[in-house]
Amino acid sequence: MAPRTERAEDSAAHAVDDGVVCVVGGGYVGLVTAVCLAELGRTVRVVETDSSRLAALRAASAPIYEPGLDDVLREVIAARRFEATDDMGVAVTGAGVVFIAVGTPPHEDAGADLDQVRLALEQIGAYAGDGTVVAIKSTVPPGTTAGLKTPRPAGREPIPIVACPEFLREGNALEDFRHPPRIVIGGADLACKRVSALFEPLNAPVIITDATSAELVKYGANAFLAMKISFINEIARICELTGGDIDAVADGIGRDPRIGKSFLRAGLGFGGSCFPKDLRALDETASYHGHSFWMLKAALEVNRVQRSRFVARIQEALEGITGERRVAVLGLAFKPGTDDMRQAASIDVIRHLESVGCTVSACDPVAIPAAAPRLRRTTLTGDPYGCVEGADVVALVTEWPEYCSLDWSRIASLVRRRTVVDGRNCLDVRAVRSAGFRYVGVGRSA
Ligand code: UDX
Repeated sequence: MAPRTERAEDSAAHAVDDGVVCVVGGGYVGLVTAVCLAELGRTVRVVETDSSRLAALRAASAPIYEPGLDDVLREVIAARRFEATDDMGVAVTGAGVVFIAVGTPPHEDAGADLDQVRLALEQIGAYAGDGTVVAIKSTVPPGTTAGLKTPRPAGREPIPIVACPEFLREGNALEDFRHPPRIVIGGADLACKRVSALFEPLNAPVIITDATSAELVKYGANAFLAMKISFINEIARICELTGGDIDAVADGIGRDPRIGKSFLRAGLGFGGSCFPKDLRALDETASYHGHSFWMLKAALEVNRVQRSRFVARIQEALEGITGERRVAVLGLAFKPGTDDMRQAASIDVIRHLESVGCTVSACDPVAIPAAAPRLRRTTLTGDPYGCVEGADVVALVTEWPEYCSLDWSRIASLVRRRTVVDGRNCLDVRAVRSAGFRYVGVGRSA
């Protein structure tokens, strides 16, 4: 009898509860996942090792800018369903599901650096109860999850690892979490079902598959969306060469339900933490297996060219000006609704302009603190009207709604010359022209 009792006590000590979730990594993906699962009624513990992020979370303040996140964070902390800690043991013990949402930054060869994922697995293995499932939310190259292992103390059950990619858009992350078009989970069937149960209240379609296919859904979706953007940018170029108008062309193409209207906005192309990195990583995976994924290379090249073409348009507008040439840049973040500056077009555009001797002032409603360390020569302001004072060219880089509805008569009285180069085709051409400006868009008819 004695050994049986010991085993019973032992398993009680290592019991897990699927109502308790641990999320390793309080960055963008981890924090949104954690807060939204807590909103769905789970008890969530986030492991965050960065002391300033941890302090912010404990003070119920999101360390990243994401509309609505602070409010939900405050609610779930008040309801005692959310806790942040730097103690892996405290966070993992008793949790039924542990999500890993740590960074997988690109290596120099564009492959993903998995060190943080492996370190998290080692630590989780030491504390997880028998029956815990690990779900990888970090974006990892196809084939990674199937090859991962969680080291376990002697005599303890192995821990299944599933892939559970995220599809959240920055600036829209809470809505994307609450209304996902699908949830994808890959790995052993029972483990996938345990993870899937967490999302049940969302009533979303769930795709359960093998881990590598789940990882490929994420890369495939991002690659396809990025290719759609580069494709419409190529069509915009053809519009410029032949006299077509991209607004009408994209509308006409997008109304075909087989194609769809989204991600057909021509302009400065894609930036952010996902598309450029994921396209390179998928291309790298393909090369590793001896395949050349030409469409990815083309999408990246078109994206690069969009930025230099935009700068060329600004330079063209500055031709003939002797003395100081001043450019006002509207928008710094890689897209509206975020302060994220990763792979933001604004950095390439501004650095290029400054390297050819232009004086640049730039504005953004939220991204100035994030942008400032990378733009030391640029005058930065939160006020678009202050930004355009004395400008020879006004260049729109990020389509913040407030920049799409500026008072162009007022701007006309502030600038030195009236030329607008619109990198996102978001301005009201009629309003801009009737204020006396020359308007240059992307693939828009003259
Ligand atoms: C993307 C994916 O959409 C999301 O599913 C994934 O999980 C993370 O990567 P995100 O990077 O937040 O999300 O931004 P998204 O809204 O997809 O836009 C990406 C880039 O494409 C932005 O720079 C945006 O300006 C650009 N874009 C988007 C276009 O240039 N044209 C379009 O029509 C759409």
